[in-house]
Amino acid sequence: MMIIKLGGSALTIKDATEPTIDEVNLDRIAEELSYYSDDMVIVHGAGSYGHIHAKKYAIGDKITNAQENLYKIEGLSRTQASVQLLNYIVVTKLQQRGIPAIGVKPSSFIITENKRIAVCDTGIIERYINEGFVPVLYGDAVLDLNDDIKFAILSGDQIITYFANALKADKVILSSDVDGIYTDNPKTNPDAKLIDIVTKDTQLSLTENEDRADVTGGMAGKINELLELAENGIESLIINAETPGNLKKAVSGKEVKGTLIK
Ligand code: IPE
Repeated sequence: MMIIKLGGSALTIKDATEPTIDEVNLDRIAEELSYYSDDMVIVHGAGSYGHIHAKKYAIGDKITNAQENLYKIEGLSRTQASVQLLNYIVVTKLQQRGIPAIGVKPSSFIITENKRIAVCDTGIIERYINEGFVPVLYGDAVLDLNDDIKFAILSGDQIITYFANALKADKVILSSDVDGIYTDNPKTNPDAKLIDIVTKDTQLSLTENEDRADVTGGMAGKINELLELAENGIESLIINAETPGNLKKAVSGKEVKGTLIK
């Protein structure tokens, strides 16, 4: 079984001021994924469909008074609706390419505690896989058990880690808009080099959040999730979804350029 994350930056125009699909990329990504040959779960990020709202309403920050509470409630409902719309667009596109995609709303069956998944019934996802569907989940805004914050942003990266463990995935692919993990930020440092293999002992010079449009921690957040997975014996591969052919290779079991986290 394979779990594949499609970064919001590959599906949407992430720095846009309003939710915007990257039509060309999405269409090509759906076409490439149609070559899948194994049971598969897809998790997509939110891109401009999620981060704009999540940031505006500061979901996950402490709620200190009734007015803030009301504002967060408005924020949660708006964020959920926006990412659900993105999921609908992605699922429809996948279906057009012949993939039996089924959208599953994470906030309808997952609750976090201090922003980490605490309540989650994976049974429904397993059932869909067994019936031959490709479940499509996504980064979402969810309820949180901590009464100080009440709500949280759940990244697709955390969903990947959780399900990879729970469903004992054979293969985890994380795709975004970079080739993998670099020795430094490749967007600002031309001398940055791609690292083939990262382990918990690899020294990385990543800032906590190098991408200001990203409320869930950018590349540093992803690596932490994947290192946790590696500790449980599940390797994962970071690849670039914007390089044509990469996802096709990944889902059909061929070798792809990227960074292996082990
Ligand atoms: C973020 O999910 C979810 C929301 C902001 C609601 P991700 O963290 O997985 O999204 P991307 O891949 O960075 O866009």
